[in-house]
Amino acid sequence: MADPILQVTDLSGGYDPVQIFRDINLSVGAGESIGIFGPNGHGKTTLLKTLSGLIDPWSGDIRFDGQQMNRSGARGSRRWQNFNYDAITRRRMDPKTVARAGLIHVQQGNLLFPELTVDETLSISTRAASGRQGWSRADVLGLFPRLSERLVHKIRFLSGGERQMVSVAAGLLSAPRMLILDEPTLGLSPKVRSELCDAIVTVRETGLPIILIDQDVAFLERIIDRLYLFDHGRISRVMERDEIPGHEGLMAMLFGEVT
Ligand SMILES: Nc1ncnc2c1ncn2[C@@H]1O[C@H](COP(=O)(O)OP(=O)(O)OP(=O)(O)O)[C@@H](O)[C@H]1O
Ligand SMILES: [Mg+2]
Repeated sequence: MADPILQVTDLSGGYDPVQIFRDINLSVGAGESIGIFGPNGHGKTTLLKTLSGLIDPWSGDIRFDGQQMNRSGARGSRRWQNFNYDAITRRRMDPKTVARAGLIHVQQGNLLFPELTVDETLSISTRAASGRQGWSRADVLGLFPRLSERLVHKIRFLSGGERQMVSVAAGLLSAPRMLILDEPTLGLSPKVRSELCDAIVTVRETGLPIILIDQDVAFLERIIDRLYLFDHGRISRVMERDEIPGHEGLMAMLFGEVT
């Protein structure tokens, strides 16, 4: 079998000094997509932020596309690093390196610059592509036609759905070799939701590997090959797409049968 594009081994981490997740093992093959499903506040976003280098892992390894993303070894004490230039150079992971390698993270909650226009946002989003060929501006506007009418508008005047579309478009313009989508459809109206879901399915059909967190099992099933159940900072179960028991079944696995 070909090497996986992403291999995560015994990964633990959190917000020092509070550990949020531990002993995470997951592997995504080239052309595969996976989903992560779990209750609110159990650490899914923290895990994804660690994969993309926004926070440092405490221990374990992240290999992406044949490259070790974190400096190996266990976490040292942070206290002696405080106020020390070494704290910067000793970082175990660098988000710029991760993005330039093509692991692109579309974060939860529309983290765009409100005062930039859509056009400006799309323009700066190509920086992480570092020479890789990927989606062009025409491609992303074809995927999200309603953004064409919004190019001169500032992000802060867009609807939640439009902002989410800009976020995904920006991710695609970074020429991802793998895309991380953290609850891209959260809080959207049914019509806009279904537009966004269809667009993400189209992206998936190009063969791009995706890590998707979403609460909608039917949507997950359209995208992913495998689902990781995430419970109190651990992966409690892994199932292939055809083993997913539907929303009720997953809830029963997480919380026990409702009596
Ligand atoms: N910057 C931070 N500093 C300290 N604790 C944090 C920080 N961000 C999140 N947490 C805590 O980490 C825990 C896990 O949060 P996280 O956002 O990773 O969960 P989640 O599974 O993504 O939840 P949701 O489904 O609501 O998005 C929560 O208890 C949260 O309060
Ligand atoms: Mg989250």
